[in-house]
Amino acid sequence: METLKGFPFPSAPTPHPSPLASLGLARWCAAGEAGGLPTRPTMQRWIEVQIETHADAADLVAAAVAPTTGGVELRDAETLLSVAAGRTCVVALCQPDRAGLLLDAVEEALAAARAAGTAVDPVTIRQREAHEDEWRDVWKQFFRATRVGRRFTVRPSWDAGEAPAGEFVIDLDPGMAFGTGAHPSTRLVIKLAEEVREKCHSLGHVLDLGCGSGILSIVAARLWPLASGLAVDNDPQATTCATENLERNHVVSFQVRTGTLAEVTGRFDLIMANIQADVLTELAPALPARLAKNGLVILSGLLLAQVDPLLAAFCDAGFTLDARADEDEWGALRLRL
Ligand SMILES: C[S@@+](CC[C@H](N)C(=O)[O-])C[C@H]1O[C@@H](n2cnc3c(N)ncnc32)[C@H](O)[C@@H]1O
Repeated sequence: METLKGFPFPSAPTPHPSPLASLGLARWCAAGEAGGLPTRPTMQRWIEVQIETHADAADLVAAAVAPTTGGVELRDAETLLSVAAGRTCVVALCQPDRAGLLLDAVEEALAAARAAGTAVDPVTIRQREAHEDEWRDVWKQFFRATRVGRRFTVRPSWDAGEAPAGEFVIDLDPGMAFGTGAHPSTRLVIKLAEEVREKCHSLGHVLDLGCGSGILSIVAARLWPLASGLAVDNDPQATTCATENLERNHVVSFQVRTGTLAEVTGRFDLIMANIQADVLTELAPALPARLAKNGLVILSGLLLAQVDPLLAAFCDAGFTLDARADEDEWGALRLRL
């Protein structure tokens, strides 16, 4: 999924980064009600539809189902939950009353792909009722104590592991929120923040925009113990999770708030935002007003092809490039005014 790696549809609605994607088990992809906030089937019962097709048709299928689902994943030969080479499995979660719409959209997309001469067949469609708890069970098998950046070990409660002396340990239960440290987009922010720490030993205020599990707030609190901070996410499940993780790690210097940048006041010395490119582009004009003198912004969640357009949007808003880091197909930027 070259165009589908990560965020497949540049103009798509807000993606729902699933916990599996957060662990790198599946690709991060678009979903959600058109134009809305990230939607996730918070109800206990939902329908999982798996459409396994030729890899060439996966983009079309994923694009077709995105408007009717609360989450789409793409599994191929490279993901941990994998399918055979040349095949892609589009996994869509939807509310039970939307399954019919979703299947109609799949059939239309497949027919259009065939008509356009795109390789499609054979196609296998599976459908089953599923429960939210399954996510937790699946990813618990994979989320293990992980070394992140130069000095961090992120570990779940079920794998305490052993941290080398001098290592910062982050105890994390990401719940349904994104942010275990396993995804390159998170790791790139940590790398760029650690570089800042090399030169700048004290920081006043830090904003963690799109805080997910709260992992970046905890990282910042460890790197700059005297800093105060604000962790913001527009998903209440994420802010509940971030609150718990901050408590779990005895971080009392960060407040957690459900909302967006529009609800944030004050100025920050460091703003970290690992969200997707289209959201970041929209935030560009508003960010300078939230940045303190000599402040830095770290932007992540970008596919490599999205980095230059995003940089251009931020340069238009008055920013200049301080540093860039890439990992796999992901890129991140550190900017200053
Ligand atoms: C990729 S996750 C990042 C989580 C964590 N900060 C990390 O780096 O691992 C992006 C988060 O941004 C949140 N988000 C998306 N759009 C947002 C917006 N406009 N304002 C605030 N949060 C947003 C999502 O709910 C999600 O929790």
